Amino acid sequence: MTRPRVFVARHLPGRALEYLAEHADVDIWPDEMPPSAADVADVAARSVSCHGLLSLLTDRVDAALLDSAPDLLVVSNMATGFDNVDVPAASERLVLVTRTPGVLAETTADFTFALILAAARRVVEGDRFTREGRWKTWGPEVLLGQDIYGATLGIVGMGGIGSEVARRAKGFGMRIIYNSRTRKPEVEEETGAEFGSLDEVLRESDFLTIHAPLTPETKHLINADSLRTMKRTAILANTSRGGLVDQWALYEALRDGVIAGTALDVTDPEPMASDDPLLTLDNVIVTPHIASASVATRSRMAMLAAENMVRALNGEVPENTVNPEIAVGWRARVRRSLA
Ligand code: GLV
Repeated sequence: MTRPRVFVARHLPGRALEYLAEHADVDIWPDEMPPSAADVADVAARSVSCHGLLSLLTDRVDAALLDSAPDLLVVSNMATGFDNVDVPAASERLVLVTRTPGVLAETTADFTFALILAAARRVVEGDRFTREGRWKTWGPEVLLGQDIYGATLGIVGMGGIGSEVARRAKGFGMRIIYNSRTRKPEVEEETGAEFGSLDEVLRESDFLTIHAPLTPETKHLINADSLRTMKRTAILANTSRGGLVDQWALYEALRDGVIAGTALDVTDPEPMASDDPLLTLDNVIVTPHIASASVATRSRMAMLAAENMVRALNGEVPENTVNPEIAVGWRARVRRSLA
């Protein structure tokens, strides 16, 4: 049997690379910055044939890239989201695409709460206030924020991460209202979450948090109209994908007091430029896409991406496959390539 060759788009935490190397010849992109499509093509060419690509959410896996690596059988994306991969183009070329859902839900939900709490209680402003030498005395009206307990949390997208956010919100004594493609009776039962239309969720939320995938249907789900529907005191958190929010509309809404604040872990584009207008506002917190960034979770994501890769190169269709419908033709390709 031909030993498969795998290109890994960045050095990974934990044991994932060792595990991959037990099953395949592995090329690792050495830089912190993502490889360009040309770099990937170059590595694929130098590797004679590249059967697997372990990609990150910063890597655009599009038709051009797929064409530059014609022996590619598997794209294992180390992320729960896969908007960076052109899945129809992969399916057309009988390339299996996998992702890493589940293992990051709790860590991402923890971070979502970190953002909500930081924005509500002005943690980042407080830290700046101290560093700038403005803390002169305890003041009854200094840096007053909003209470979390008793407030209404709106969740858009009640998948794995949204459900974990709901569990945490229950612990904080919040009322929960949500909108999602499908109703989640078990989450409603456990957390008391109420299902509502998107409009109801926007209107009633003191805090709104987004946990939906980025698709053509969800792009700019939060726009000037939806922001105007929200309470003037509302705070928006986003740990999903920047593209769900029309960022210019958000800037205008925050500048004009249409809503009270925002905390974003994801932006459009990424990275956010340091002179972005949003960063001129005090009621804005932006972190650099780190919601899943705990040592344990990033190691689990890397390992799951490596396991998906190894399974797929053995001709199995892993549970976390995005395009299982190509299985029959794809398996025949794997057999031909790695016989
Ligand atoms: C992170 O954003 C992910 O999709 O895993």
